[in-house]
Amino acid sequence: MTKIMDGKALAAKLRAELKEKVAALKEGGKEIGLAVVLIGDDQASKVYVRNKIKGCEEVGIRSYSFNLPASASQRDAENLVKELVASDNIHGILVQLPLPSHLDEQAILKLIPPAKDVDGFCAQNVGNLAMNRETIVACTPFGVMKLLEEYGVDPRGKNAVVLGRSNIVGKPMAMLLLNADATVTVCHSKTKNLKEVCAGADILVVAIGRAKFVTADMVKEGAVVVDVGMDRDENGKLCGDVDFESVKDKVSMITPVPGGVGPMTITMLLYNTYITAMRG
Ligand code: GUN
Repeated sequence: MTKIMDGKALAAKLRAELKEKVAALKEGGKEIGLAVVLIGDDQASKVYVRNKIKGCEEVGIRSYSFNLPASASQRDAENLVKELVASDNIHGILVQLPLPSHLDEQAILKLIPPAKDVDGFCAQNVGNLAMNRETIVACTPFGVMKLLEEYGVDPRGKNAVVLGRSNIVGKPMAMLLLNADATVTVCHSKTKNLKEVCAGADILVVAIGRAKFVTADMVKEGAVVVDVGMDRDENGKLCGDVDFESVKDKVSMITPVPGGVGPMTITMLLYNTYITAMRG
């Protein structure tokens, strides 16, 4: 029987634990603050940001929401981030990506100090991850590791294949799996024999943003498949990068979309915010 890895349930459990910790800090006089910056009109980003703010409310973290128009200048964006960096009430800063294309994303993200980088995107936090040191880990891959742990999947000695090499998911995911002693292969659009490589995976993590790209012939019997995708199918229905219906009966475990990785991403953001507040 295939196990469906329930990210919604695990997220609810972790958020309940976090809520108690946040409340204890508040009793001691410390209110945790997260700044959420949205620039422009990207519809998906608006939904993500709304859910992040809702997540804060759920666990008792105070969110400070900032929206700049798509026409915002580099200076507007940088000035806002600088203000947030200087505020003692704000322990974490999240700038929702992607930014409008006229803005220099790296220059803006660089202003966020590692101690307030709740996304784990800055060079210092990424470097620490690469060296297997304690750090702030990017929320989505961190959530995937929590899901694997919850379902008793130990990556040690396993063949793990990561499909996608983004800075946000693929690369940190590969490093986390490597740190957990998996043998890791990272695939991308130029990879040869993609099908064969994926079919050799004991653990397959897919984050390429292409609806139902991974089909049954690309997965090994009994594999663990984690779907990071949030796509729309031909009927406009939300789906993942994995063709769930065709893959699910062949594998031992799989995450659904929605209700798999998505709720975990926001939960780990809340967790990272708690960690930064504890340190600060
Ligand atoms: N855009 C898509 N995923 C993310 C994320 O995890 N953090 C931020 N800041 N932007 C994103």
